[in-house]
Amino acid sequence: MSRTVYVNGEYLPEGEAKVSIFDRGFLMADGVYEVTSVLDGKLVDFDGHAIRLERSLNELDMRAPVTKDELLNIHRELVAKNDVVDGGVYLQITRGAPADRDFVYPDPDETPCTVVLFTQSKPGITESPAAKNGIKVISIEDQRWGRRDIKTVQLLYPSMGKMMAKAAGCDDAWLVEDGYVTEGTSNNAYIVKDGKIITRQLSKDILHGITRAAVLRFAAEAQMEVEERLFTIEEAQQADEAFITSATMFVCPVVEIDGAQIGGGAPGSIAPRLREIYLDEARKAAI
Ligand code: PDD
Repeated sequence: MSRTVYVNGEYLPEGEAKVSIFDRGFLMADGVYEVTSVLDGKLVDFDGHAIRLERSLNELDMRAPVTKDELLNIHRELVAKNDVVDGGVYLQITRGAPADRDFVYPDPDETPCTVVLFTQSKPGITESPAAKNGIKVISIEDQRWGRRDIKTVQLLYPSMGKMMAKAAGCDDAWLVEDGYVTEGTSNNAYIVKDGKIITRQLSKDILHGITRAAVLRFAAEAQMEVEERLFTIEEAQQADEAFITSATMFVCPVVEIDGAQIGGGAPGSIAPRLREIYLDEARKAAI
């Protein structure tokens, strides 16, 4: 079934939506994005995603082309028009399409940003086999650029990482820099040892996950101990549990890292519990 998508102020059938070949998103990956999950037809953590989007735009000297309220309306319109019950909304804003290719940024008064949104319907998203059985990851060197806190559309290396994982018979890759895990290709990474949840502290080295912020808050509220610090793959392999968080996977256990089983190769108790709390709270607060 053809989706209705949003491009620069218009709602169009997906086959009719067009962006210029001179768009800087296409030529230079000069754009930012957000993925907001949808549960029961409602947006999860919309505010968090909107605030991070604003920050990404600011960091790249891009002018926000739509207000937060307008964005919320577009998200809701698309969810309604496409009858999305469970799934997500993808949003991308690029520095627009100047008259020609040029490394220099175009004048924002002459070249408006390009705004694209589309929905992804994923029935049963909360009941995935990955969440039930856990996923297997490999570790690879983190070869991304140094501003991973900005959610840009430069996703080639994360994509290569997923392909390396697939080639190794695994589901995803954890990225390692200077001996320490930064994050997953498209998620934040955690380990659990003696009941304590350990995850890398926020910096320019990782994306400041919206799911991460919520999960750490819920963990603290549930009296779970949280430590934000560096950890290695070796430490992760010795951990009692490991897991990832993202807007598309929520909380998902990791049961194997570079061939070493974690917690006997089955999800432990903390990650599934956090997932349950997260999904409950996300549903309650969704708008
Ligand atoms: N990815 N780290 C990276 C590198 C990511 O790409 C993502 C999200 C996260 C988790 O952030 P959040 O909890 O806000 O989704 C961490 C999205 C889901 C994607 O690219 O599809």
